[in-house]
Amino acid sequence: MVNVFIPKESRAGETRVAATPETVKKMVKAGLAVGVGAGAGAGAWIADDAFAAAGATIAADPAAARAAADVVLQVGPGTPEEARQLKAGAVLIGLLAPHQNPEVVRALAAGRVSAFAMELVPRISRAQVMDALSSQASIAGYKAVLIAAVRLGKYFPLLMTAAGTIPPARVVIMGAGVAGLQAVATARRLGAVVEVSDIREVVKEQVESLGGKFIPLPEREGGGEGEGGYAREMSEEFLRQQRAIVAERVAQADVVICTALVPGKKAPLLLSREMVEAMRPGSVIVDLAVSQGGNCELSQADEEVLHRGVLILGPSNLPAQTMATDASQLYARNVWALLESLIRDGEVVVDLDDEVVAGALLTHAGEIRHAPTRALVEGEQSS
Ligand code: NAI
Repeated sequence: MVNVFIPKESRAGETRVAATPETVKKMVKAGLAVGVGAGAGAGAWIADDAFAAAGATIAADPAAARAAADVVLQVGPGTPEEARQLKAGAVLIGLLAPHQNPEVVRALAAGRVSAFAMELVPRISRAQVMDALSSQASIAGYKAVLIAAVRLGKYFPLLMTAAGTIPPARVVIMGAGVAGLQAVATARRLGAVVEVSDIREVVKEQVESLGGKFIPLPEREGGGEGEGGYAREMSEEFLRQQRAIVAERVAQADVVICTALVPGKKAPLLLSREMVEAMRPGSVIVDLAVSQGGNCELSQADEEVLHRGVLILGPSNLPAQTMATDASQLYARNVWALLESLIRDGEVVVDLDDEVVAGALLTHAGEIRHAPTRALVEGEQSS
């Protein structure tokens, strides 16, 4: 019988958990034996009893449970020590952030673990149900707008009162991928006027269908779209022109939500110090790109910066920091969908011919299979 273990996350600030009673029931029904680390659900308000009622056993000794497990489901990458506890041939599934955790990756490869990084799941329609980047980014976009609304000393909606009319808040959203589109939808629901800057043409229609206004940008050679539907890295000259165009909209804005990213690159700089200084005091910026260097020149990870009256927030992980319950709910479903796709006749099978497996598999049979991570880890070793 396949033995699945869901540990309590070891990293500080990680409140999410990689399974819920709902997904535990599904695993048990599929014939798997499920163990959950004591207190694993506490940060997401799921009691050990609720996991036990769903059919899991509660493991008091996480190291022993990890060593015995055929499959370990995690939110974060864990520590190198935890990686070394896994047995050879075990499957690990988590948001492994491989480029930030070379030591964990090295330990997983050396231990012959088949590690799946949820970030690497290909964004094809069959794998949408496993798309943890989307489920978590959507939460971040939603919460970023709510936080801005709470911190802004103004109404979001147009309000007609006995004491006169209050105009709606003006919100500018930089980048309209999954987080940005959810931010558009949330800000619109609250009644704000929303304007959006993105470099991918396809986004215009999506923004407009949510009631946002797309800020036109200069023509760019080959368009803004690169591999896999993601953004391309634009030249410094293009970004300079983009900032000049957006500056006017930003100066009028009460709130700016930054979500612009380019896979594998530093986040584009879209809000310069001068642009922030042109904003009205009391305005709020939420920079969700902060972990990749930020879209705003002045943002700092998990710090509140007050610059000439403009509040700049850089929350690095809103799903864990503010929405553990639904973040866990969705993430657990993403992870279960991937695990379920690996099960054949009650066994876990790593089928390298499967496009999703091949894409998401970070380490397997002693090798680092993801080329950019391999280059990074080997580069570190030789230096
Ligand atoms: P992301 O997090 O990598 O980037 C966020 C946004 O920033 C993107 O819309 C990107 O175009 C934008 N951006 C980059 N440079 C910019 C700049 N200089 N100025 C303004 N905006 C800039 O993207 P995310 O959210 O992961 O999704 C990107 C796209 O991937 C989606 O919109 C969609 O087309 C595709 N996707 C496909 C899925 C599927 O089919 N299963 C699921 C999710 C996403």
